[in-house]
Amino acid sequence: MSNNRQQLADELRRRGITRRSFLKFCTSMASAMALSPAMATEMAEKLAAVKRQSVIWLSFQECTGCTESITRSHRPSLENLIFDFVSLDYHHTLQAASGDAAEQAREAAMHAHGGKYILIVDGSIPLKDDGVYSTIAGMTNLDMLQQVAKDAAALVAIGSCAAFGGLPAAAPNPTGAVSVSEIIHDKSIINIPGCPPIPVVMTGVLAHVLTFGIPELDGLGRPKVFFGDSIHDRCYRRPFYDRGEFAKSFDDEGARKGWCLYELGCKGPITHNACATIKWNNGTSFPIQSGHGCIGCSEPDFWDAGGFYKALSTGSNNPGQWAAGALAVGAAAGLASGWLNKSSKSHAEKNRQPVTIEDMGGKSDE
Ligand code: SF4
Ligand code: SF4
Ligand code: F3S
Repeated sequence: MSNNRQQLADELRRRGITRRSFLKFCTSMASAMALSPAMATEMAEKLAAVKRQSVIWLSFQECTGCTESITRSHRPSLENLIFDFVSLDYHHTLQAASGDAAEQAREAAMHAHGGKYILIVDGSIPLKDDGVYSTIAGMTNLDMLQQVAKDAAALVAIGSCAAFGGLPAAAPNPTGAVSVSEIIHDKSIINIPGCPPIPVVMTGVLAHVLTFGIPELDGLGRPKVFFGDSIHDRCYRRPFYDRGEFAKSFDDEGARKGWCLYELGCKGPITHNACATIKWNNGTSFPIQSGHGCIGCSEPDFWDAGGFYKALSTGSNNPGQWAAGALAVGAAAGLASGWLNKSSKSHAEKNRQPVTIEDMGGKSDE
């Protein structure tokens, strides 16, 4: 565990990152979060003054994809630096320590930073058969989550497994998997779903928490700055959708011309995420740009939502028919959203307002 209380600005200087590059990074991060230019400058000043924030990361029923995503980069980036710069005091996959030493590091961090540390969770929590399906150091995931969450300043559920149950909770849910928000009820939880989530979204939310506090969340606990729009709202294939031009198979003329993938099962109209704007792999592409429809990976219960290649409704190449079809699509999207929301009634439902770590009962890490 590191006790380094150095400011981020000192570390930036040590690594030879110029103020200009840092400001550019903050401007693009602020723009991705739809913050004003003035707030970009404010974010740069606040972020530069941030001291190492203790983070405890618990991995439960997961596939390591979320951790892979956050560490995946073609080159060292400022996003990586910000994530590196938090004091990651416990992380099964990334820590060098193992066995008793690893658990001692977790307990030491909890003791040293009680009420101040951020708890990040990836993976779902199995409740069936007394939680025997996933244990760490002899503790069930349920016991460890409750123990560590108790003194956390903020909770972040990373990935659809932690946010909504994800793949482990898919029918018939053999382990009785549940999300973090189905266990912890006395603290606000920031959900960053996706299977896995976009790395820039994870670091962006972290930067927001470190500078302006908890971002405004939607009814499912997702930061509105990244999950406010649907994929469909920002999709570059949208003009084809609006004209009723749909690929009918993955190798037909329409697919070659880049037409809309709605009839091939795209769930973009009911999926909220930033893939169409921020994209993946340093802004290179996202599933739809690579020729595959969105499978809705940042929405609750997407594994059980009716088949990845099944259209939400039936479109038409006839513009006249499409007008009626579009209404049906809207209704279908509304119904599907309603179904998804209904199926998530146990998840965070209230529309939360921005709060700070202090509002949540935590203490600023002075
Ligand atoms: Fe893996 Fe997806 Fe779950 Fe992340 S959300 S742990 S990538 S299955
Ligand atoms: Fe893009 Fe899918 Fe919407 Fe078509 S249905 S415009 S491919 S998000
Ligand atoms: Fe997931 Fe759809 Fe983005 S499948 S990665 S939310 S385009």
